[in-house]
Amino acid sequence: MSLIGIIGGSGLTKLKNLEILRRQIVRTPYGEPSGPLTFGRLGQTEVVFLARHGYGHTIPPHQVNYQANIWALHHVGVRQVIAVAAVGGIAETMQSGVLACPDQLIDYTHSRHHTFFEGGDKQVIHIDFTYPYCDRLRQDYDRAAHGSKESVLMSGVYAATQGPRLETAAEIRRIERDGGDIVGMTGSPEAQLARELGLCYAPICLVVNPAAGKSEGVISLESIEAVMAEGMNRVRHLLEAIVPL
Ligand code: HPA
Repeated sequence: MSLIGIIGGSGLTKLKNLEILRRQIVRTPYGEPSGPLTFGRLGQTEVVFLARHGYGHTIPPHQVNYQANIWALHHVGVRQVIAVAAVGGIAETMQSGVLACPDQLIDYTHSRHHTFFEGGDKQVIHIDFTYPYCDRLRQDYDRAAHGSKESVLMSGVYAATQGPRLETAAEIRRIERDGGDIVGMTGSPEAQLARELGLCYAPICLVVNPAAGKSEGVISLESIEAVMAEGMNRVRHLLEAIVPL
């Protein structure tokens, strides 16, 4: 079985149930990853963990070096990437606390490096991205969810926005018309860079707030944090079930 990488998002800068074996700084042609890679054991399985926003949660979504992160994971032998992210809920089904594994992506981000194949004398490539996420890994999530009695919605359209601010109510109405079910700031270009390197990549999203205009009033950071704390514990539990013991 190939080495599994786990990218932790907001609320998951640490995997409490990870038995840490070593840390490795990886230098990449694309600059610094978000931090050293943490090699550890989850159950019996060796995994590599990386906190997307840095271990101190200091790197905003538009400044994450997605190229370096994906390149570094690939470089150390990772071939499957479990990408954990906190998101806002747009669809009725995507209430706070729901875990979802989307099956589609709409990209509203800009001014990020969306490909490894740019600059110098690199030939342009156009990857197929009809189905942005790795079906094999999505099936593993589904199996793990059933096995651990955790409920995970296995479809949905992830809308990737630029951030770091949350959206306006009008932006969310537009995204909803476009077909977006959940909204986050880190799903792109992470997914397409992973595809460029041939990695099997799929997200696990925790809905931490109703998206802008989907509830009365403004979005409170306190309520996001409360949902995140409880929900990420369920994600940790699910991760143990995904990674075969
Ligand atoms: N919008 C974008 N990203 C997010 C949100 C949101 O409402 N909640 C958590 N990440």
